[in-house]
Amino acid sequence: MDTFIITGGTPLQGEVTLGGAKNVALKVLVACLLTDEKFVIHNVPDIRDVQLMVEVLLSLGVHIQRNGSTVTAQNKHIDESRVPLDIGARLRTSSMVIGPLLARYGRAMIPNPGGCRIGARPIDRHILALRSMGALIDYRSDDGYFYATAPQGLSGISFEFTKNSHTGTETILLASVLAKGKTMIKGAAEEVEVDELIALLNSMGAKIWRSGQREITIEGVTSLHGVEFTIMPDRNEEVTFAIASAVTHGSVTVVGSQRNHLSAFLTAFTATGGVYEAIDQTRTRYGCGRDLRAIDIETKPHPGFMTDWQAPWAVLMTQATGTAIIHETVFENRFGYAEELKKMGANIENYDPDVSDPAGFYNFNWEDHQDGDHHAIRIHGPTKLHNAILTMNDLRAGATLVLAALAAQGQSTLHGVEHIDRGYENIEERLRKLGANIVRQKEEVL
Ligand code: EPU
Repeated sequence: MDTFIITGGTPLQGEVTLGGAKNVALKVLVACLLTDEKFVIHNVPDIRDVQLMVEVLLSLGVHIQRNGSTVTAQNKHIDESRVPLDIGARLRTSSMVIGPLLARYGRAMIPNPGGCRIGARPIDRHILALRSMGALIDYRSDDGYFYATAPQGLSGISFEFTKNSHTGTETILLASVLAKGKTMIKGAAEEVEVDELIALLNSMGAKIWRSGQREITIEGVTSLHGVEFTIMPDRNEEVTFAIASAVTHGSVTVVGSQRNHLSAFLTAFTATGGVYEAIDQTRTRYGCGRDLRAIDIETKPHPGFMTDWQAPWAVLMTQATGTAIIHETVFENRFGYAEELKKMGANIENYDPDVSDPAGFYNFNWEDHQDGDHHAIRIHGPTKLHNAILTMNDLRAGATLVLAALAAQGQSTLHGVEHIDRGYENIEERLRKLGANIVRQKEEVL
């Protein structure tokens, strides 16, 4: 339970290297369960979520070692198929081991997954797809576990996600590579991170291809082999540093940049008055050219404006002239940071857009909407942000409050640093190198 003490107002300057992508590393680690051969993964970020995933795999009996940013895994004989409750409840992606465990060993027990507090986040779409592949899955409310078996093995199917699911698509990929016959996923997620998982699985001997728009075909194989693979840089970190640069009126060069995966962000960023310069293939310099103008965004699955970017975007909009709407359509509860920004002087109000068919329009299950939930905010700017005592309550909200404190006048205290540690490796050291005044205070354990 560490705390950040941040004194804002310094323009960030210099170069920062992106870490490996969290949302690729987690799934790639799960894939080590699909083979008994050696698995070598480079550029694995040393973040809390990855540490938790390693704990899950160790508890299942996988041998894992980390040497710098390289992780080596070898899976001799798995005799455990139960994900421990205390880890599973803290890491939503731990549920993804269900596919490989069912495909190879015919059984899996996974706790109802946790994760960031950004909504109900059920896994009903994953379970439905696995059941249609022949898995028998019971949920026991007395212990909160899904008990899954596949007595006849898993079979290829044609399955349609009627609403996008990023990890749902990946769960079916991980289950179907060793299934009997051909699987076709319709309504498949198009996120870049899904393509990275496909690339990894194909380099292990799988047969997977994107066969149409939002359609993936998997031809089941009988076994997969070991692999050496490098995790791509994290595009969510890139967005964080781009906004950090703009809101502090600085100039930050991101190394490991992936402009081709950030089109929706870069379009919005330039429309609002942010600037970027492509230095070369992998380096981009970000800054803020002129006065910022408020613009509206609506989050969407890839290739739209990603939900992970809307919270940091809100800080940028507090500095823009006019009224900006942020409409969150993917998760039902991702504005937890707004009350904290208001403590710093931001002028933010809840807003209820007129949506004629909410059940069809929103990506979350409409039954998870609760009375009083708001799916949009309006930010009136510009406002001068000032220091405050703040609490982070999820990963991206954590990054958002760090950005706001860097832009604000005075010294802020940020509690709940464990949320940001889930997804950003050594964020304070990297920000300090850019000139930020940020200190981590370790909470004393009595
Ligand atoms: N949903 C259901 N049922 C399901 C699956 C999803 O109701 O069975 C709902 C979710 O609750 C959500 C919406 O559908 O409201 C979309 O969920 P999706 O499955 O696409 O998201 P996810 O797979 O849980 C991943 C990333 C998120 C990222 C989203 C959108 C990982 C580990 N997580 O979540 O990343 O925001 O896709 O791209 O890959 C983050 O990194 O901070 C983060 C939350």
